[in-house]
Amino acid sequence: MTDILFVKPVLPRAGALVLPLAEGFTLDGLAKQADEATGGAISRGLEAAGFKGKKGQATTLWAPGGHLSRVVAVGLGAPGGGMGAAEAAGGAALPLIASEVEATVAAESLPAEEAAGLALALRLRGYRFDRYRTKESAEDKPKLVRVTIAVPDVAAAKAAHAPLSAIADGVFLTRDLVSEPPNVLYPAEMAERCRGLEKLGVTVEVLGPAEMEKLGFGALLGVAQGSAREARMVVMQWKGAADDAQPVAFIGKGVTFDTGGISIKPAGGMEDMKYDMAGAGTVIGLMAALAGRKAKVNAVGLVGLVENMPSHNAQRPGDVVTTCSGQTVEVINTDAEGRLVLADVLWYAQHRFKPRFMVDLATLTGAIVVALGHEHAGMFSNDDTLATQLSGAGQAVGEKVWRMPLGEAYDKALKSDIADMKNVGGRPGGSITAAQFLQRFIDTKDGAMPWAHLDIAGTAWASKDGATVPKGATAFGVRLLDRLVAEHYEG
Ligand code: BES
Ligand code: MN
Ligand code: ZN
Repeated sequence: MTDILFVKPVLPRAGALVLPLAEGFTLDGLAKQADEATGGAISRGLEAAGFKGKKGQATTLWAPGGHLSRVVAVGLGAPGGGMGAAEAAGGAALPLIASEVEATVAAESLPAEEAAGLALALRLRGYRFDRYRTKESAEDKPKLVRVTIAVPDVAAAKAAHAPLSAIADGVFLTRDLVSEPPNVLYPAEMAERCRGLEKLGVTVEVLGPAEMEKLGFGALLGVAQGSAREARMVVMQWKGAADDAQPVAFIGKGVTFDTGGISIKPAGGMEDMKYDMAGAGTVIGLMAALAGRKAKVNAVGLVGLVENMPSHNAQRPGDVVTTCSGQTVEVINTDAEGRLVLADVLWYAQHRFKPRFMVDLATLTGAIVVALGHEHAGMFSNDDTLATQLSGAGQAVGEKVWRMPLGEAYDKALKSDIADMKNVGGRPGGSITAAQFLQRFIDTKDGAMPWAHLDIAGTAWASKDGATVPKGATAFGVRLLDRLVAEHYEG
């Protein structure tokens, strides 16, 4: 784990020196000192490398003189690029310094917030899940233990970095959970890991099958019944505001492995379905982030944890289950299980907590990947204000959402001949009919209930490195929802 330190500018004696530079830069401060100390090797090197400070551009100058083993220049793009540019530069720098033990970033010309943002990006990009690598050579392992960020105002940079550091911790928790293999991370184990949030001041309640049976969670338990692993629901509460202040609520799909059940999935790529708990993993990391930075909000996080397996005891296509709302569902396809889990948890969350809004996250449909690829999560909402707030927060942190439609005509596809609804609506608009299904478990009988559903099937896992997201579990949604809360629901 890399430590981040903010200090007054002092030329480092060893390791790497990172220079974040905007287009049209002139070397000043530490960069200028280093250039002079190396007899102009840095300015000559940057010139020779064609380094212009373009956004995302990165160049390494090896052993330019003195004791520095390398200088890494990273582009900030056009001057005034703000947080986005600072994050892009931090993310681009990390792979180029990962094999150093120490690095110093000459961030004197960046505002404190951007220096902190650059540090956040370094940490986020440096994430690795290596718990199960026993044979990696020391040479191949990243060595970076300390990054020193040189800034003019140390106190301001530290203050800006403190909440970001808590957010990074939340992101890492989510990435760890999502990366864990499904034999290790099953519902009871995932619930156990939620208990870890207690040390941050989060209240954690774990419910087992008997308790959920009493609550009438027929849909969630129907999914779980094929598995030897017991289901869990975890309720996490963070109280950062007045005791009686209405909370905001986040609900996550936590299918620790989705075989499809009796409607079994094809073998190819089925291992990916270990990340079918990413919605729940994101809610857990978000709660850690909010508590970690002591957000001035009351927030509840609820996750429904099950494993979807085929077995002699598994639910069958054609089964009818009764949800805790009292509505019945004909299970046409046992692979449309996420919505069954969420149906019970959404209804329960709303009626127990009467929240200001509910946002659910779920790797719900392959159809959303077809529609939006891996660039945007699908957003479905019954509330224009909440939808606008989510779009803005997503833009700000680089976790983008794209609003999809809801409507009566789509809802009709869920009509069942035997029950109140069926759990699939056919191939056309598959992610929309899934969202329509969820909306049937948002109760507007006693007035509006702002709700948004984020289908993160295409964004929860990355197959290639991004600026602040190494390939693998992304934790998409932690930064987005933290930002939503910070911008609109605190104080
Ligand atoms: N967990 C899957 C959706 C998914 C697909 C997540 C790809 C991540 C990547 C979900 O439970 C599922 O199986 N959905 C079905 C629904 C269908 C049976 C109506 C799907 O998308 O095919
Ligand atoms: Mn499924
Ligand atoms: Zn699933």
